[in-house]
Amino acid sequence: MTIHVRVRAERSTGEKRVAATPDSVKKLLAAGATVEVESGAGAGSLIMDAAYEAAGARIVARDQAVAPGILFHVRPLTAAEIATLPPGAITVGTLDPFQNAAAVAAARDGGITSFALDLLPRISRAQSMDVLSSQSLLAGYRLVTIAADAFGRMFGMTMTAAGTLAPARVLVLGAGVAGLQAIATAKRLGGVVSANDVRAASADEVRSVGGTFIDLDLGTAEAGGGYAKELAEDRARRQQELLAPHIAASDIVITTAAVPGRAAPRLVTAAMVAAMKPGSVLVDLAAESGGNIEGSVAGERRAIEVTGGVATLIGARDIQSDLAPDASKLYAMNCANFAALIMREGDIVLDFDDELVSGSAVTHDGKIVNDRVAATVEEVRA
Ligand SMILES: NC(=O)c1ccc[n+]([C@@H]2O[C@H](COP(=O)([O-])OP(=O)(O)OC[C@H]3O[C@@H](n4cnc5c(N)ncnc54)[C@H](O)[C@@H]3O)[C@@H](O)[C@H]2O)c1
Repeated sequence: MTIHVRVRAERSTGEKRVAATPDSVKKLLAAGATVEVESGAGAGSLIMDAAYEAAGARIVARDQAVAPGILFHVRPLTAAEIATLPPGAITVGTLDPFQNAAAVAAARDGGITSFALDLLPRISRAQSMDVLSSQSLLAGYRLVTIAADAFGRMFGMTMTAAGTLAPARVLVLGAGVAGLQAIATAKRLGGVVSANDVRAASADEVRSVGGTFIDLDLGTAEAGGGYAKELAEDRARRQQELLAPHIAASDIVITTAAVPGRAAPRLVTAAMVAAMKPGSVLVDLAAESGGNIEGSVAGERRAIEVTGGVATLIGARDIQSDLAPDASKLYAMNCANFAALIMREGDIVLDFDDELVSGSAVTHDGKIVNDRVAATVEEVRA
């Protein structure tokens, strides 16, 4: 039997990524699959239909019905999109299942097996499929280039006969995959970089990429699996108070703090922004999920009045699409590597004893197979 893989052209405005590249197509073909790519799917990532064809894929119209098999996608599918899939279809991509109860319910009711790559356990064996890591890495880099562009000054200390330019002071809040990449990138540009996070391992991780760790003496907040836990209200307030002088002393603040399944923690208040120097820049990766910085709006660049001038507050949106060719290259290989896990000699084999399969499966056989997601969907319905 041949496994049929369909690669979706993303429909969401501003989304330029695609879940397959010519290289990942070759990998899928070598594993015994046939691959169909929706026409124009790679255009935003500078991959033309002809390049997919040259790699051995077939180009199909976007509205052509999806045949039984595996569907690769980037953005979470909507309930309406899932309803068009044939029963037994397997979807592989990001699902954000805690925020997308309707889509999860549609997958359950349609007999779809859905895998959320954003739910994969963060263990070594999952690294090659880990879309959160591959995409956060690019986001971390891009946050710094956005900040550098808006800053309009040099990052690195520069001494010339005409005078000395001081280095930019960069503060990164949240030092997960994106934050660490932001620290490393800002450091490479010559900034003086410091960072804070609430996980125990983060102090060493920050130092390992060249940043100075700011220890607020707040204790750690961990939920297991390498993830942070939400701080109780009094500790969260204390964190803000302790961060305030560091923020006021910074030229650039980049925030990437997140707690899985929760709104982003509020780390920077409007008063803290107002206490910054004129010309300061803040970029908030969490703008789409509640915002680490009060007043940040995804996709907007705002001038905030500060004493003597303005600071610039930028809410990030779709920033991986700003680096679409790279983002797609990594995302596509994440998908192909996951597919390799469920394809055996031309057949689909779903081994739910494998923690990567069971950890990322959301729906299967008419049921929601992830208990936490099932509870969320029930909650939304109640
Ligand atoms: N395969 C692997 O081994 C692997 C791969 C990738 C990531 N990881 C680990 O997974 C974990 C999660 O990484 P992520 O980037 O997805 O995290 P994430 O996107 O969930 O969160 C980003 C960062 O925000 C931090 N944060 C949360 N609340 C905060 C607060 N109030 N103040 C400051 N910081 C706060 C978190 O601790 C985290 O470092 C990390 O421990 C990372 O090292 C492991």
